[in-house]
Amino acid sequence: MIVINHINTLRQLLNRHREMGHKIGFVPTMGNLHNGHLSLVEVAKQHSDIVVVSIFVNPTQFGPNEDFDAYPRTLERDCEMLEQQGSDIVFAPEVSEVYPKWPNLTSVRVEELGKNHCGSSRAGHFDGVATVVSKLFNMVRPDLAVFGQKDFQQLAIIRRMVLDLNFDIDIIGAPIIRENNGLAMSSRNGYLSEQEKEQASYIQQTLQWAKHQIEQGTTDYRQLEQQASDRLNDNGFKTDYFNIARQDDLEPAQANDAKLVILVAAFMGKVRLIDNLEINK
Ligand code: PAJ
Repeated sequence: MIVINHINTLRQLLNRHREMGHKIGFVPTMGNLHNGHLSLVEVAKQHSDIVVVSIFVNPTQFGPNEDFDAYPRTLERDCEMLEQQGSDIVFAPEVSEVYPKWPNLTSVRVEELGKNHCGSSRAGHFDGVATVVSKLFNMVRPDLAVFGQKDFQQLAIIRRMVLDLNFDIDIIGAPIIRENNGLAMSSRNGYLSEQEKEQASYIQQTLQWAKHQIEQGTTDYRQLEQQASDRLNDNGFKTDYFNIARQDDLEPAQANDAKLVILVAAFMGKVRLIDNLEINK
């Protein structure tokens, strides 16, 4: 496995792979890897000849009061995990390499899809994500890229960005990997104590409860959203949002919509956790 820090070195190496006709798969991450990330690498391996994993904590997707400085940076351990798993190339650039002139004046915004849910509570977050992912796409020029369904809204935004900007890249969505108790794996789970991790499984239980209500015929989604938020708030969380949306455009779901997704973000102390559940009626 090769660890590369510079864009030019990466481009030269990948050009050689392209000349050999190799199909390039790409998994962008912010590091502090867990089994959720590794599952994306497995999916990428299945669809390509060579896999590039980027590890880059992207400053432009963090708000001023968010955890950019505190975000766990564990490059050595991450590389060990990726090497064991059989990744080919790790791309771990410095901020100055990705953003050669700071601040960047150019940014990518995917308008409607980025406005609700995480977009409304994290101003500018998805602009930062879309901008860095398009920059990474220009550096790696992969044939395909794999993203987790854990970040449902992010995946929808990337898919739309690829369409709107004519990137010649297949986007593959990979399923959410969970702890045994149902808590979705996340680098931010490391901020939780063991007891909080147990308590945090209540997010998944609440999603399942709401799904059950919908399967039993509930169609007043605004009331259900409120009830579910109350349940979370009564169980140690501060709910940021609990939204029942349409899968395709992420607008609030109405009674006759068939393809739904429940999107939730909730704080446990200072730690913001997200999860989601798709429902096909
Ligand atoms: P990060 O949070 O490190 O996540 C990298 C990828 O791993 C994302 O596609 C995310 O959806 C996926 N992922 C995280 N937890 C997962 C889980 N439990 N199961 C399945 N997939 C999971 O998302 C980002 O980084 C950044 O926004 C990035 C796209 C790299 C741009 O900076």
